Amino acid sequence: MEKEKPIGVFDSGIGGLTVFKRIASTLPQEDIVYFGDTARVPYGSKSNSTVKEYAFQDARFLINKNVKAIVVACNTVSSAALRYLRENFSVPIIGVIVPGAESAVRATQNGRIGVIGTRATIGNKAYAKEIKAINPRVEVFEKACPLFVPLAEEGWIKHKATYEIAGEYLKELKDLDIDTLVLGCTHYPLLADVIQEVIGDNVKLIDSGIAAAEAAKTELDRYDLHSNKYSLGNQEFYVSDIPVKFKEVAELFLGRKIKQIQKVDLEAITV
Ligand code: DGL
Repeated sequence: MEKEKPIGVFDSGIGGLTVFKRIASTLPQEDIVYFGDTARVPYGSKSNSTVKEYAFQDARFLINKNVKAIVVACNTVSSAALRYLRENFSVPIIGVIVPGAESAVRATQNGRIGVIGTRATIGNKAYAKEIKAINPRVEVFEKACPLFVPLAEEGWIKHKATYEIAGEYLKELKDLDIDTLVLGCTHYPLLADVIQEVIGDNVKLIDSGIAAAEAAKTELDRYDLHSNKYSLGNQEFYVSDIPVKFKEVAELFLGRKIKQIQKVDLEAITV
């Protein structure tokens, strides 16, 4: 039955686990299959055409797992390949950028929003376009923070190097009188405490994963795809490589233990 199929969630690596976590708490009865393309992370420094190609293969892997909907738990893919994925697959596909942009516009009081993300997301002006489409009067200030991804993957969530790098990256945003800052990369919620401390308590942080989980719920409503189960959903984790320390860092992202992570061969995905 369509309703009892799992939801697929993917990211370039393990950053999408911050979104997975939100989906699992918003939709606890749903089965979820997660795929992290850990063999090819980062996507954020790659061209749009490469990101599209990888995203197609990641989504096809999930489709082969018989998913009823896909959440693209990656801002880079959402910014470069969402339309392409929707053209190629018939299941509902939910990205993180529109939900994140909507929640930022709702949050701002002074109409000045900062956005941080990978080079690709910022280069694509993904948030600026969506925010302006919702409210053209809002001013958007974007900044690529590529070093945040390896810091999060290293688990340096409170390290002094993280404070230093955050200080450097956020310096110009601090002078721009923003009252809202979008964490436009699914790795960044892990560094939220440091980012909040550096940018100041008067700036509200937006985690697009929270908004994306709500958007996934709305899509399941719209297509009448909610599972009828009363029990907690099953969760499966697949990655294209298992780096050293992987389980430890993945559990940090997820905030709990993971029983099993299965490795899939990249060749099986790319054929
Ligand atoms: N998690 C990805 C995102 O949300 C960034 C990681 C990468 O560069 O692959 O953009």
